[in-house]
Amino acid sequence: MTDLLTVDDVHVSYGDMEVIRDANLSVPEGEVVSIVGANGAGKTTLLDTVSGVKDIDSGDIEFEGESVVGYEPYERIDKGLAYVPERHRVFPEMTVAENLRTAMIPASDVDESAQLDRVFDLFPILSERQSQVASTMSGGQQQMLAIAQGLVIDPDLIMFDEPTLGLAPKIVEDIRDTISEISESGVTVLVADEQIEFAKHVSDRMYLMRKNTLNYLGERGEFEDAYQETVDNVFA
Ligand SMILES: Nc1ncnc2c1ncn2[C@@H]1O[C@H](COP(=O)(O)OP(=O)(O)OP(=O)(O)O)[C@@H](O)[C@H]1O
Ligand SMILES: [Mg+2]
Repeated sequence: MTDLLTVDDVHVSYGDMEVIRDANLSVPEGEVVSIVGANGAGKTTLLDTVSGVKDIDSGDIEFEGESVVGYEPYERIDKGLAYVPERHRVFPEMTVAENLRTAMIPASDVDESAQLDRVFDLFPILSERQSQVASTMSGGQQQMLAIAQGLVIDPDLIMFDEPTLGLAPKIVEDIRDTISEISESGVTVLVADEQIEFAKHVSDRMYLMRKNTLNYLGERGEFEDAYQETVDNVFA
């Protein structure tokens, strides 16, 4: 199977503090891959480096067989790499429709109306609330809008940072189903989340970020033991 995204020997720091040491990650095309880890482990930092929001010290990041190091975030979006940061990153004063149109600006060759139809199919509530100001939507609805902002660029890979943060169990289930639907529609997924149960449920393979280091836990069916060890040692 082809790897859509590879992270090779990546090191990342904030000032003098090394936050990610020698990370290696492969995301095969068509799969859902997750990174779990406790607060401050470096999950967001890693997704930030893949999206181009944060620079790496050394190493390489390849998307669709080419290095994306040195490319700006908007250029990576145009290559089909979407990033949905932690929730409430929608533009609060804009309407739902304005948020979606703005998200499409960096993607040069997408069919706007086809992409709007696609996200309105997935989230009928966004279709009904197109002219509602985003800040007046509920937390769960804003998370759906944030996911839709990633999807409207018609990505090959979409990354989600803590998609379940602060959401009620019922909404977490909805997000889980949504990620499965997105995956079934042919989009490869990389998700970072603290909730191991959630990650375990949606993932084809899992990684653990711990003490600045990324460890591979295995494929679906293999990560049960690693999962228990994780719960015992990392989240205790
Ligand atoms: N802009 C920044 N400047 C300095 N240090 C930072 C910055 N952003 C993150 N860090 C530090 O880098 C480390 C990793 O943080 P990061 O946000 O990547 O962790 P995380 O795994 O996403 O945590 P969480 O589960 O709480 O979201 C932490 O020690 C954090 O304090
Ligand atoms: Mg984080």
